[in-house]
Amino acid sequence: MSKSERAQFATRLGVLATTVGSAVGLGNIWRFPYEAGVHGGGAFMLVYIFFVLVIGIPVATAEFIIGRHTHSNVYGAFRKLHDSPFWKVSGVIGIVASLMILSFYSVVAGWTFEYILRSLQNFNGAETQEALHAQFNQFTSSWESVVWTLAFLLVNYLIIRRGVQNGIEKMSNILMPVLFVILLAFCVNSLFMPGASQGLEFLFKPDFSSITPQVLMGAMGQAFFSLSLGLGGLITYSSYFSSKTRLLGSAASMAGLDTLVAIFAGIIIFPAVFTFGESPAEGPKLVFEVLPSIFLDMKFGQVWSVLFFVLLFLASLTSTISMSEISIAYFTEERHMSRRNATLLNTAIAMLFGTLSALSFGPLRHMTVCGRGVFDLLDYLSSTILLPLGGMIISIFVGWVIKRSVIYEQLDVVSPAKARLVKVVIFCLRYVAPTCILLVFLSGLGVIRF
Ligand code: PFF
Repeated sequence: MSKSERAQFATRLGVLATTVGSAVGLGNIWRFPYEAGVHGGGAFMLVYIFFVLVIGIPVATAEFIIGRHTHSNVYGAFRKLHDSPFWKVSGVIGIVASLMILSFYSVVAGWTFEYILRSLQNFNGAETQEALHAQFNQFTSSWESVVWTLAFLLVNYLIIRRGVQNGIEKMSNILMPVLFVILLAFCVNSLFMPGASQGLEFLFKPDFSSITPQVLMGAMGQAFFSLSLGLGGLITYSSYFSSKTRLLGSAASMAGLDTLVAIFAGIIIFPAVFTFGESPAEGPKLVFEVLPSIFLDMKFGQVWSVLFFVLLFLASLTSTISMSEISIAYFTEERHMSRRNATLLNTAIAMLFGTLSALSFGPLRHMTVCGRGVFDLLDYLSSTILLPLGGMIISIFVGWVIKRSVIYEQLDVVSPAKARLVKVVIFCLRYVAPTCILLVFLSGLGVIRF
């Protein structure tokens, strides 16, 4: 597709809503609280925010620069910018990682369908935490979970088949503000729970002695996952930006709003965890067991519950649309497939690995590699390894290889103040982000100790 034929997002709000739409999803509401819970709460949060500032915003800006400059898919972007095949590796990492994430993400997105139905039935009258626990385990280990995974991927397919400009922007424009307001209402509700102070202390009071290599790896992976970074999702989306979009401002606003939503999710979940006597380190089931308890306790709980799971489903959809677009843009532009075939291929791969991931909570529970089932393995390999690796390559590429004039032109450096800001971003891309990523990897793998 030539530069002039490519679709563009229409408005500034549209750009913000679609990038936030990609970033905000299960990563914030489901993954952030459970990762924070497993990794000690406050310590995780502190490290997480540090990574968002020194790696997240610079790498998001770098992806935007590459995408809007080349107006290309992730693989084609590196091909256009440099002859060496090495840089294209980053494109391959992005495409593989996006398909892995789409597969396991759809399993959890499928759970939201089931929870919409359960909300309508008031969770079959479950009154205790044990009953909700049992319901969750029974559901996720059954074939029903596979059916919902496939149903979710079908809905995703029907939307992405039609292309980027149709619908994503309009849907995100409405959805994101509504989601924000609802989450705020839930935060206020949680602050009045008996376990509120314990929950807030857990989330916001860092215990420095609990910052381990695992916490660093977890927080870094979470920052990449939550901001949709390191796999070229933002390269792909920004290839549709107009020349008027302010890249640095968009990266900062996206990161800020995304982090705020994750913090909201923490404020909603942890007071409830302590109120209902759950363990914060429950893992992936945490949110799905704790939220229903909150709703069952609220006035008009059933209405809130349905509304919440519908919004969570839609927020997941705006994220899966963006991760699907990564491989679809590659298949159509580099492999010359029709959009229809590219979409089918993307969906078929995700259906296969999505099914295996869903079954890893039940019949395939014992199929493990290094102690991890399929779901866990896909999550770990993509979020903790591939995304930071992709992010490191992107930051080195923009920091060291790309022409300075391209960066200055894309970031629209017109004043000395802006030039100073851009210098800080370039410094982070050249030194801070690659060093942090490398150190975290080495400490996570046990090569260095501190
Ligand atoms: N950032 C999304 C979330 O937090 O739910 C997940 C995601 C979307 C990851 C798009 C990667 C991606 F390309």
